[in-house]
Amino acid sequence: MPPHGTPVLRSAYQPLAYTVSTVDLDFSLDPQATLVTSRLQCVRNEDAPAGPIVLFGDALELVSLTIDGAAPAAGQVRETESGLEIDVSADEVMLEIVTRINPSANLTLSGLYQSRGGYYTQCEAEGFRRITYFPDRPDVMARFTVRLEADAATCPVLLSNGNLLETGELPGGRHFARWEDPFLKPSYLFALVAADLKALERRVDTMSGREVLLQVWVEARDLDRTGHAMDSLVHSMRWDEEVFGLELDLDRFMIVAVSDFNMGAMENKGLNIFNTKYVLANPETGTDLDFENVESVVAHEYFHNWTGNRVTCRDWFQLTLKEGLTVFRDQQFTADMLARASDSPAAAESARAVTRIANVRGLRSGQFPEDAGPMAHPIRPDSYQEINNFYTATVYQKGAEVIRMLLTLLGREGFRNGMDLYFSYHDGQAVTCDDFVGCMAEANGADLDQFMRWYSQAGTPHLKAEGVYDAASRSYTLTLSQHTPPTAGQPEKLPLHIPVAVGLIGPDGADLPLQLEGEVRPSDTTRVLNLKEASRSWCFTGIDAEPVPSILRGFSAPVILDITEDNARLAFRMAHDADPFNRWDASQRFMERVVLAMASDAAAGRPMEVPQAFGHAFRALLVSETLDPAFVAETLALPSETYLLERMQPADPAPLRAGLIHLTRELGQAMQADFLARYLDLEVEGDYRYHPLDAGKRALRNLCLRYLAAWGGPTAIDLAGKQFEHAGNMTERYGALVALVQSDASRRIDALAAFHERYKDDALVLDKWFQLQAGAWRWSDSAPASLDQVRGLMANPAFSLSNPNKVYSLLGTYFKANAAEFHRPDGAGYAFWAEQVVALDKSNPQVASRMARALEGWRKFTPEIQARIRLALEKVAAAQDLSPDVTEIIGKALA
Ligand code: TRP
Ligand code: ZN
Repeated sequence: MPPHGTPVLRSAYQPLAYTVSTVDLDFSLDPQATLVTSRLQCVRNEDAPAGPIVLFGDALELVSLTIDGAAPAAGQVRETESGLEIDVSADEVMLEIVTRINPSANLTLSGLYQSRGGYYTQCEAEGFRRITYFPDRPDVMARFTVRLEADAATCPVLLSNGNLLETGELPGGRHFARWEDPFLKPSYLFALVAADLKALERRVDTMSGREVLLQVWVEARDLDRTGHAMDSLVHSMRWDEEVFGLELDLDRFMIVAVSDFNMGAMENKGLNIFNTKYVLANPETGTDLDFENVESVVAHEYFHNWTGNRVTCRDWFQLTLKEGLTVFRDQQFTADMLARASDSPAAAESARAVTRIANVRGLRSGQFPEDAGPMAHPIRPDSYQEINNFYTATVYQKGAEVIRMLLTLLGREGFRNGMDLYFSYHDGQAVTCDDFVGCMAEANGADLDQFMRWYSQAGTPHLKAEGVYDAASRSYTLTLSQHTPPTAGQPEKLPLHIPVAVGLIGPDGADLPLQLEGEVRPSDTTRVLNLKEASRSWCFTGIDAEPVPSILRGFSAPVILDITEDNARLAFRMAHDADPFNRWDASQRFMERVVLAMASDAAAGRPMEVPQAFGHAFRALLVSETLDPAFVAETLALPSETYLLERMQPADPAPLRAGLIHLTRELGQAMQADFLARYLDLEVEGDYRYHPLDAGKRALRNLCLRYLAAWGGPTAIDLAGKQFEHAGNMTERYGALVALVQSDASRRIDALAAFHERYKDDALVLDKWFQLQAGAWRWSDSAPASLDQVRGLMANPAFSLSNPNKVYSLLGTYFKANAAEFHRPDGAGYAFWAEQVVALDKSNPQVASRMARALEGWRKFTPEIQARIRLALEKVAAAQDLSPDVTEIIGKALA
């Protein structure tokens, strides 16, 4: 590893002088002293300048090393900062390396570690070098065979990538298994599992008629929560066959659930390892959202088999090559699954919009702040200090938006042709983003040179739209301009190629057919305009009255749309925009305007008021009988506080929170009868099933309950209490608990206690309980401060700093999703943050770094708040022995 603070540069890429053709691994698993024997066939790389064999190693004890069976000569093997260098003259040599590692002491959850008595690996991005010395880079693709042995009683199941060759008993109560992966793969896709697990199994045929075995491995007590993951896997297989013609290439595909995991899941070849949170779900313990998340993460990891594994990344700067593309694929899959479950074409369109809305909500609250802060980077970064810090919303979510723009520009068929070409050229290779976009361009005869700037420019572009109607010529001229603010290291930005989907709404609310100047007849009611210049105008003709523009339909580009719209116009689009995404966006814009106005009133000590026009528009959606409930729930849900803070200049959490509380209460009170009526008529009859139509009703019903409970009338609290007690599934029980906790009803205290009592042995359900309390708003002055709550909850026996899910639920929620409480004026929230970041960094730098990032956007706040945060940042910066992960975040924040 390079010394702290030394950046790795994308421009410095060099192929290695020696790669590896075959790897033969032998693991003798033991909690404190696992022996790893690795036989590497190293091969001179013709395309690289001459040099030694370069092996990376991290936290390893080297037991022995031989070269073609012999001890190395003096000076032939050198230790470096990052591992070993070996001078050889032959074009091919066999290295045999034995290392000793201590999985029980490995709390980083990278490399080989233990969780609840079992052994698990996590090798992406650079975990394999914590297992053995290896050229641990994605451009080294080799054939792996693995033998693993362990204690048979505690670890009856022994898994690795590919096909099982052999199993057998050994003396001393041990046993072994041998596995072989027929495909070339980089080391980051290696995995092994040795644990006491049981599998749900299913056999299915692939599109070419091959039978494959699917397994979902979990602890025995969780077997009754695996059905949904299995169904999701089968649906993902079918979807990739139907939409992309891509088939599962192995005879066996395994998913393993583990309780201690830094991220969501990992796409190791044939042996996906998942955080339990994204595998386990049944009606009693998982909400509709959990079911949805399981489905999309299962799909995401499965889709990586082609976009990531069969074609992988040349180096980690290309991460979005696999992640942006695979997120895009899982988003499309989710939208198709929702649409398929709809009962009409209109419902299908609305269902797709609901997926799109969820994606954009995520982008705006997670990626926009990143792009506006000191960690801003292009989807393909130019440098990093610690690669683990670059598994970001930008690489994943904005990366997916960039792929989606290619679909918009090339059309479904053109996009598919580009994908086909990509696989035909690059199957089995480690490639770059240029290779991918090159295939898209070649397959379509398209010029994507300017489009490539999306890969190199950081920051969220602002798109300005201004329209002028000319009654005399019956024309409407729309001018679009773009501007990307400077980001760290990129003071100057060039114009991007932005596809802008546009519609014009007539005075009666119906879309107008669009005819651009020079066209002989109108066609379509939504057109994609390609903005490539800093500014350009388009003239629409044959327009009889001034239209209302609907810009950036479907969120056709990841930009911030600046457009001047008065309240009446926003209300009009909330009622009529034919593009469901933009209809939702109109309501979000209106809410944002109302809440930010309230926040500034609160800051100035003026009374806060809900504008009438907003109330009417909101109510019209609430009582609509024709709109799909899932869609209505999205339109009536407030924008996230994180996003609003980004829009507030300067950001000031306390008055914003006052505005949010006031608005929620006022709406709940003013529309109590409507909320109540909808609540009553949305009841879902019969046994719980995870189905989008039912989930939509439950979502809107729970939202109604939230507004009602926020208002706080006795009927409302009673309803919430009843739903909590009599709920037949977790979506309803948790929904009622959220409503009670996010209110000043005293019932919330008993409800939290009852929930804890009922689920105290269930780690995933307890995560919800921790999360809810850490994120709770203070609806009355008598409510306890969140900081005291969070500190108290850390003492709960179920809490552990070494379990990432617990840290994310309790600390992550407090630091990142409870701004008004975390940014309390006495600075105690920041002192607590500094203390926890430093403590976590000693055991798990990846998790510590995620927590550290909670304050990177500190410069958006008021000067008083900034001054307090700076002290906390400086305190962490001054701590001893910080990891490179946290060092990079704090360094960039203070720069
Ligand atoms: N490749 C994984 C995914 O997105 C991400 C991942 C899982 C990961 N575990 C990790 C990245 C640990 C870094 C470190 O599907
Ligand atoms: Zn991924």
